[in-house]
Amino acid sequence: MKFRLLGALAACAMIFASVAAADPIVIKFSHVVAENTPKGQMANRFKELVEARLPGKVKVEVFPNSQLFGDNKVLEAMLLGDVQMAAPSLSKFKRYTKKLQLFDLPFLFSDLKAVERFQQSPEGQKLLHATEKKGIVGLGYLHNGMKQLSASKPLRVPEDAKKLKFRIMSSDVLAAQFKALDAMPLKKPFSEVFTLLQTKAIDGQENTWSNIYSKKFYEVQPYITESNHGVLDYMVVTSREFWNSLPDDIRGEVKKALDEAIELGNKVAYEKSVADRQAIIDSGRSEVIELTPEQRAKWVAAMKPVWKQFEDQIGKDLIDAAWAANKQ
Ligand code: LMR
Repeated sequence: MKFRLLGALAACAMIFASVAAADPIVIKFSHVVAENTPKGQMANRFKELVEARLPGKVKVEVFPNSQLFGDNKVLEAMLLGDVQMAAPSLSKFKRYTKKLQLFDLPFLFSDLKAVERFQQSPEGQKLLHATEKKGIVGLGYLHNGMKQLSASKPLRVPEDAKKLKFRIMSSDVLAAQFKALDAMPLKKPFSEVFTLLQTKAIDGQENTWSNIYSKKFYEVQPYITESNHGVLDYMVVTSREFWNSLPDDIRGEVKKALDEAIELGNKVAYEKSVADRQAIIDSGRSEVIELTPEQRAKWVAAMKPVWKQFEDQIGKDLIDAAWAANKQ
């Protein structure tokens, strides 16, 4: 009896010791932008909140600047369990769903507020589930901002872009958008853009003010046209396998921390769309070209026919719902 009791106590002690010494759950969060961007700041805040609220239980390792994976590989890596979270731009999910191509349609949203309204609408929220069948869980949207066109020459009307080579994200809609201008789109990873521009292997690219500023594209692109022709936002994702493996209470805390971090990231996005634009102007390295209403109408007329090409893949109802978000 005595021995049995001692044995039981020893077993309890061992279980207790192993629980106490259990390794924390590690969330590797891989992204491609600089740490001072909306996504960079969101990821860092997420780490802070999670580690403060779940000390010893969850550890978040953030890998910025494509240190671990580029966006074209990160989703595969996530499905293999090599990273647990990422936030690729909505333009980079083509292999997993065609629906998110919606966000690439040129001149669909008039500004970031309209994007926000659509994302928070029932249709927008439903889109967060668009990749679930492929094992990818959408945890939330995060803003970066509206895209501008940068180039080695001034772009005032669509004809100015003719025959120029533009780097694009891996999106067929974006390829069609530049083909509609009779320009040459090249799908390249974000990490290569600066060098491609610097060596003049390409003539231009499209991106947000914060990406153009933080990655110094403006130092190697003498002209930036303030076109606001599209949106560059993100979906924060994890794998279904990892998400379901978390104990309920931990999953709840992680999601809460993420929602708060996204709130910060969105605030940074709005601020940077103004401050980084101004910083580029102040640098004197790049001329920011503002379009007249007539010039802008020409870009719209040249690019908007792309919508028809993708209507079947995306769904007309979805396009209509997104368009309606402009008018609220
Ligand atoms: C790009 O590839 O240009 C962007 O998706 C980078 C980013 O994550 O903002």
